[in-house]
Amino acid sequence: MKNLGILLSGRGSNFEAIAKSVAAGRIPDARIAVVISNRATAAGIETARRLGLSAFIIPSQGKERTHHEVEVVSALQQHAVDLVCLAGYMRLLSPWFVRQFPGRILNIHPSLLPAFPGLEAQQQAFAYGVKVTGCTVHFVDEELDHGPIIVQRAVPVLDTDDERSLSERILEQEHIAYTEAINIVFEGKFEIVGRRLQRKAACLGE
Ligand code: GAR
Repeated sequence: MKNLGILLSGRGSNFEAIAKSVAAGRIPDARIAVVISNRATAAGIETARRLGLSAFIIPSQGKERTHHEVEVVSALQQHAVDLVCLAGYMRLLSPWFVRQFPGRILNIHPSLLPAFPGLEAQQQAFAYGVKVTGCTVHFVDEELDHGPIIVQRAVPVLDTDDERSLSERILEQEHIAYTEAINIVFEGKFEIVGRRLQRKAACLGE
């Protein structure tokens, strides 16, 4: 049984999609061991409690970064977390944090990286006028929205779109992409060559 740890800061729809995948057996032999928010107001924490999961608020506000990160890392370790999923976690992780879970932290970002890193990626893409955008699930390294890419899903920008409709269609794809990425990582049939995640021959065509 693999233990997932979820870090979030807000709505928590990606967390909820992961929870549904786990419950439906689409992420086999896994469970959500803990859900942690740095913000007391995060709706995702309410959802986690409603689902009967271990859910904690570890406030970051007014706290030194190192102190906050030590608290979060020890909560993840206490719950024997194998894979940390950032799901709308609006904090940059320090190099120390990343080293505590080498190759075992994933993030989802609402653009086709390396385009539009940082905040409000959907709005950035819309304003830039791209015709295709999407979402990316990647390993977390020490730079913002930067580590090797696991899954990307493309979303066309329609003439009829506004920022909201575009964001909604990207979000639908995010919910699919995160489950795909978790399964790739748990199956472990890949290697990272440079920045490229390459599936091993045995699982191509599956
Ligand atoms: C998602 O769109 C996620 O991709 C984005 O925050 C939203 C969280 O929504 N993350 C980032 O922009 C990280 N750079 P959710 O709380 O409903 O999952």
